[in-house]
Amino acid sequence: MACLEIAGGRPLYGELTVQGSKNAALPILAACILGDGPCRIENCPRIQDVEDTVSILKMLGCRVERTGQTVSVDASRMEKDSIDGPEAIRIRSSVLFLGALLGRMGKATLPHPGGCAIGSRPIDLHLKALQKLGVRFDMQENAHSDAHNLTAGVFHGKICARADHLHGGSVTLAMPSVGATENAILAAVCADGVTVIHRAAMEPEVEELCDFLRARGARISREEDRSIRIHGVKTLSPVRHRLRADRIVAGSYLLAAASCGGCVCIRNLPSGQLDALYAVLRGMGVVIDADGTVRADLPLKAAEEVVTAPYPGFPTDLQSPLMAALCTAGGESRIRETVFENRFLTAVQLRNMGARIEIKGETARIEGVARLHGAAVNAPDLRGGAALVQAALAAAGRTTIYGYEYIARGYEDICRDYRALGAEIHLMENNSSEG
Ligand code: EPZ
Repeated sequence: MACLEIAGGRPLYGELTVQGSKNAALPILAACILGDGPCRIENCPRIQDVEDTVSILKMLGCRVERTGQTVSVDASRMEKDSIDGPEAIRIRSSVLFLGALLGRMGKATLPHPGGCAIGSRPIDLHLKALQKLGVRFDMQENAHSDAHNLTAGVFHGKICARADHLHGGSVTLAMPSVGATENAILAAVCADGVTVIHRAAMEPEVEELCDFLRARGARISREEDRSIRIHGVKTLSPVRHRLRADRIVAGSYLLAAASCGGCVCIRNLPSGQLDALYAVLRGMGVVIDADGTVRADLPLKAAEEVVTAPYPGFPTDLQSPLMAALCTAGGESRIRETVFENRFLTAVQLRNMGARIEIKGETARIEGVARLHGAAVNAPDLRGGAALVQAALAAAGRTTIYGYEYIARGYEDICRDYRALGAEIHLMENNSSEG
């Protein structure tokens, strides 16, 4: 298994361009099966979740080619309506093929994507939304599920869905779930009639999916009350789309620049998508220029309380990187995680590096220490792994991070990016150094 070796304790200086957005790429690649002809997705990051999605598209009979950072998807000859295999279970976003397959084929069979370290990740909101559009979930075929479990959205086995007549409807989400919003959009764009999604998620990746679909001829609008209105259309045309910068990767690197001190410029910082993070960083004494340059002198100031929330609130995906930065801030900080029920796993690993963190329910209390020290640690999940890299870069001494495969799910080449900022970081494949 691959691991990272990091020699920490130095400030970061330099410039870099962050990769295309993982969480926009995944729903947009699934949306490529709606309609025929080659869609070209540019600036598509080379990350495991994208490669797994490409495998699923090929499994469905799509013609998929990657040339550099461009992935071309042609669904003209697609005829399958079911997916299985390890990729469909490994990535949570495979559930987005539910809405896309229903939109194209009127039926879908796929494995329940399952939970992961950060939470049970039910799909009840997805199922309820799709039922409003005429979708039926065949109980008999889900041998291991009963009515309660299916409604709860946490069950094993396969999701078997069909819609004899996929029609518009009024959907009200109990909470602004990103995935449930995207699934409803994917099923509604070619449904018969008008769909309104109330309490829809507002994450930039949802907006980018809508931009992609509008460019293909879909009729989608965001209403004043944050609802999304969709008039179903008969067909969608092929289109070329360039993915915007990944705001979570950008935010991770900004927090690393703050943790290590120094001066870092992110050339393609997504404008207006990280305002909640900027406000927290400025409160910690970090200077952020309009051109995306970050300057930080250590120690950082503590953050009284940061609460994660759906967009435009503080993003849950940057909660672990923020925790890593606060480990060496001057004073006591608190973070309240309100989106996922089990997203403080990184704290255990940070304590191995000398951090003082106490977890009580959904609140983490971090008492700043002068400096963390190197250690051998294990990445608990994707963003927790990125947070450990950040902590290791700031810590005194050497750190080994096991579980690189988690980080590779979302970061195209974290070694390349941090080396561009002067860091000493190496990927060790099976105990031999690479790069
Ligand atoms: C998306 O996951 C992102 N993934 C996540 O990023 C991100 O953390 C999350 O949105 C929140 O912003 C992708 O876009 C591929 P949700 P998603 O549905 O859609 C509960 C990363 O690191 N819920 O908004 O799965 C759920 O359990 C990943 O890139 C239900 O209860 O998130 C969670 O507590 C991690 N029932 C909360 O809602 C449902 O039917 C938010 O989930 C659906 C969700």
